[in-house]
Amino acid sequence: MSPLPFLPYGRQDIDQADIDAVTAVLRGDWLTQGPTVEAFERALAGRTQATHAVACANGTAALHLACLALGLGPGDAVVVPSVTFLATANAARYVGAEVAFADVDPATSLMGPEQAEAAIARAEAAGWRVRALAPVHFAGQTADRAALGALAVARGLAIIEDACHAIGSADVTADGRVVPVGSGAFGPSAAMTAFSFHPVKTIAAGEGGAVTTNDPGLAARLRRFRNHGMERDPAGFEDHGAAFDNDGTANPWYYEMAEPGFNHRLTDIQSALALSQLARLDTFVARRRHLMDLYASRLAPLSPLVRPAARVPWCRPAWHLCAVRIDFAAAGRPRARVMAELRARGIGTQVHYIPVHRQPYWRRRYGALALGGAEEHYAQTLSLPLFPAMADADVDRVVAALAEALGIPPSAKPG
Ligand SMILES: Cc1ncc(COP(=O)(O)O)c(C=O)c1O
Repeated sequence: MSPLPFLPYGRQDIDQADIDAVTAVLRGDWLTQGPTVEAFERALAGRTQATHAVACANGTAALHLACLALGLGPGDAVVVPSVTFLATANAARYVGAEVAFADVDPATSLMGPEQAEAAIARAEAAGWRVRALAPVHFAGQTADRAALGALAVARGLAIIEDACHAIGSADVTADGRVVPVGSGAFGPSAAMTAFSFHPVKTIAAGEGGAVTTNDPGLAARLRRFRNHGMERDPAGFEDHGAAFDNDGTANPWYYEMAEPGFNHRLTDIQSALALSQLARLDTFVARRRHLMDLYASRLAPLSPLVRPAARVPWCRPAWHLCAVRIDFAAAGRPRARVMAELRARGIGTQVHYIPVHRQPYWRRRYGALALGGAEEHYAQTLSLPLFPAMADADVDRVVAALAEALGIPPSAKPG
């Protein structure tokens, strides 16, 4: 009998149409800065109901571009929940801004308005000028966009949604409207949403990212900073003597740089894969939802030692992670041992995330912070395998192995 296949915590799903799309670009004229990047941007804007989508190299570049577009710098601060990947906070530091770490609700692992308010108060006490909120849609569930949007408007803040986990997620408003993540429909006009298309995410580009926004000025700045700060639109030129001919025609070779930018571009090769994957997003999301429902029912007998994340009522999540809560202390099994036992059974797991404020860099910068919700999340979280190609039977296999690894007696084991 062949051994059971290894189940990683996440993996891409590439089909023949994806491969054909990439191959077609490889046989064409444009490997980068070509029409497939624009086609992907149009499709993403359509999908998210945003006016503008700016594709870029990865999710980290998307967050960096958003900070640049807002003109953040030294003395400014961005409110970032501590339960996130390093990149959300790093992006603020790239532009010299400070990070006001916020706590999360330990049941959902999301930053709500109370946690954001507390972080703002701490930042203001430190003498920082808070400029933006950066809520993270952890695991694919949205932070409370309506409440955080209202808070941002009331305080004159911008919003950078970190939706690296949440392409395909949507909120349902009280009046029944379905509002996709990326639409920027809540809060201030200075709103941007950052996406990642890393292979463990819901759609893959190899590496890839994007920012959506409805603000044309921000979109123009995002595009400029993505490409070295280079301006090619004659309407934006400063040095008219150098830019224009005597009859007022812009010189065909001319470009200008008012502020230095970066090379944060996405290639046409990556865009072809992203575009093809975007067409499959609904299928991916449906499969992920089905698997999460299955996990919820199969994990129920392991409660209260194991509990799925609490669901927020406003969101229709496109689940990126199956991050469950496990009371390792009550089970008397350290997490490292449980992970090792699962791995020995061919099951990969991961911890999302070590709260970012605990990292030595941030501790040196800000001292020790007391963020109890983030600590509670960290003590209990474990991400189980979740990806579209998983079979229903794989969920049973994971849950049975988890029960054994936790020493849960057979009477309490699922089915
Ligand atoms: C919440 C979050 N933000 C930002 C990023 C950065 O995305 P990328 O890996 O595409 O740079 C990630 C990816 O791991 C993420 O999970």
